[in-house]
Amino acid sequence: MNCAENMFSMRLSALSENESFARSAVAAFCLPLDPTLEEINDIKTAVSEAVTNCVVHAYNGAKDKYIDMTVHIDARLNKVSISVKDEGCGIPDVKKALEPFFTTKADEERSGMGFTIMRTFTDCLQVKSEEGKGTEVSMTKFIRGASDACARRNAGIDRACEER
Ligand SMILES: Nc1ncnc2c1ncn2[C@@H]1O[C@H](COP(=O)(O)OP(=O)(O)OP(=O)(O)O)[C@@H](O)[C@H]1O
Ligand SMILES: [Mg+2]
Repeated sequence: MNCAENMFSMRLSALSENESFARSAVAAFCLPLDPTLEEINDIKTAVSEAVTNCVVHAYNGAKDKYIDMTVHIDARLNKVSISVKDEGCGIPDVKKALEPFFTTKADEERSGMGFTIMRTFTDCLQVKSEEGKGTEVSMTKFIRGASDACARRNAGIDRACEER
């Protein structure tokens, strides 16, 4: 790992109250890449969805279970890589689970949009899962960054960033 790279790992109890800590920790760690507010919010939302899935689906609310998160940033590539891993029930059909509106918990008012949100708010989403063993969700996001947005605004290239 060179000086442009940095990483952290953490193990969290699979409790819904840890969701906000997890997303804030990831967001804070990404700050050296100078993300826009929108990019930070995208990361926070994607992390929330992944962590919530571990609590709600992987462990079905069971206590004494853990979520392992690893975050890696590469400042040369402006890249954030996030892994959220559980050792829960696993997903029998990942392709189906990734479809918008697919949920196995419609009775609990889940909308089946978590993976779609993760995919929309990041640049790459990968899901590896084995029934009875667990699931790893990996997300990658490239940070275009506030300074880049500013440069584009000054150059009159990106009118949208005037609203940020
Ligand atoms: N970590 C996981 N372990 C086991 N099953 C999972 C996991 N994550 C997702 N799933 C399965 O994939 C389905 C789709 O997940 P997704 O997050 O897209 O929707 P949801 O959680 O059901 O609803 P929403 O996220 O909108 O509240 C879930 O209903 C569940 O069956
Ligand atoms: Mg979900």
